[in-house]
Amino acid sequence: MRPPIIAGNWKMNCLLNEAADLAAGIRKLLDGFDGVEVVVCPPFTALPAVRQTLNGSRIKLGGQDMHWEPKGAFTGEVSPTMLKDTGCTHVIIGHSERRHILGETNDMVNRKLKAALANDLTPIVCVGELLEERQMKVTREVVEKHVTKAFDGIAAKDAERAVVAYEPVWAIGTGLTATPTQAQEIHHFARNILTRLYNEATAQRIRILYGGSVKPDNIRTLMAEKDVDGALVGGASLKAADFNAIARYKE
Ligand code: PGA
Repeated sequence: MRPPIIAGNWKMNCLLNEAADLAAGIRKLLDGFDGVEVVVCPPFTALPAVRQTLNGSRIKLGGQDMHWEPKGAFTGEVSPTMLKDTGCTHVIIGHSERRHILGETNDMVNRKLKAALANDLTPIVCVGELLEERQMKVTREVVEKHVTKAFDGIAAKDAERAVVAYEPVWAIGTGLTATPTQAQEIHHFARNILTRLYNEATAQRIRILYGGSVKPDNIRTLMAEKDVDGALVGGASLKAADFNAIARYKE
C-alpha cells in the first residue's frame, strides 16, 4: 500500500566530477530496478550534472533543503522553482543538521513543507530526538512537536503526498542505529499523531522513512517493521555498491 522509498542524502560531499561518477555508478547498478522508489539528493551545485547523468533512468532527484519563497532577496537560498528547474521531484526538509547546526526552527520547517507541497515537490520532512532527549525520555514529546508543527495548517489531501523521515540524531553518522524495535515504536507513534491530525486513511498513506546509520547489513531488519516504509541514507549513499545493496534489500 505504501511504496517504499530509499533516498540518498549526499550532504556536503562531492565535487562535480565526483557527483557525476557516483550518479553514474548508481545508475549502472540500479537502472531499470523498480523494486522501490530510489531518490538521490546531491548538493545544489551538482544537481544539473547528476540530472544529466540520470536522464532517462527511474532514479529521482531531490534537493537537500530549499527556501519557501519562489524568488527574491534571500542571498544564498534556493527556491522550490529552482529545484524543479534542475529536475528535482523531491526535497529534504528540516534535516537535523539544519535544525541543530544552522538554527532551523519548526516554523521554518512548516513554511518549507507548505512551499514544497504547493510546488508539487515531494517533501521528506525529518524529525527526531537528540541523544540527551532520548536519555531524558522525552523522545515522544520531541517527535510529536516536530510532526505537529511541521504539518500545521496543511490539509489532508496535501499531507498524504509528504514523506516523514524519523532520524534519531544520536544515530546519524555515528554507526549507532536504532534497533528495529526502537524504530517501529516511534514510527507507529508518529503515524498515530498523523491519524489524530488527519484521519486513519491519510496516516496510512504517508510514508515514514527511518534514517541514521542505515547500512546494507541493517536495512532488511528495519524494513521488516510494519511502519518503516523506507530509509534516508547518508554515509552509505556515497558508495554506489552500498546504496545499491540497500535499495535491493528484498533480494
Ligand atoms: P547517516 O545519515 O546514514 O550517515 O547516519 C543519515 C541522514 O543524516 O540522513
